[in-house]
Amino acid sequence: MDELVQSLKTVLANEYAFALKAQNFHWNVEGPDFKQYHGLFGDIYEEVYGSVDTIAERVRTLGAYAPGSFSRFSQLTEIEDQVEIPTAKSMIQKLVDDTSIVLDSIIRCYELAEASGNHGLSNLLAERQAAHDKHLWMLTSTLKINRA
Ligand SMILES: [Fe+2]
Repeated sequence: MDELVQSLKTVLANEYAFALKAQNFHWNVEGPDFKQYHGLFGDIYEEVYGSVDTIAERVRTLGAYAPGSFSRFSQLTEIEDQVEIPTAKSMIQKLVDDTSIVLDSIIRCYELAEASGNHGLSNLLAERQAAHDKHLWMLTSTLKINRA
């Protein structure tokens, strides 16, 4: 149970840090494709923020307190903090790389949830995996060069 709780707290912190980075990029992206990037980053952070409340309440359901402060999130998250403002293309690449980290943590937690017979939690984690798969598709498609 403790391992499952810790794993879920890491998922929560990863989701929160990922959403914050996407929102940071939504605010600060610049360049000729501003509107496209601003919109994509906006869609992503809104979707991910929309998931954190449910994940935090799942931590409570497991009998633990949910981390809810910047210091706790920065202790728990595996996502690197973003202070500098990257180029638009680099923002996309960073979110692609971070998506792999978020997905790894979701899959680890899913296996623990299944092992403990917590199908409600594994169902939520499967939904989070599908949501990030979709974000990854949109991000990687943005990086592709158009064929002539
Ligand atoms: Fe906005």
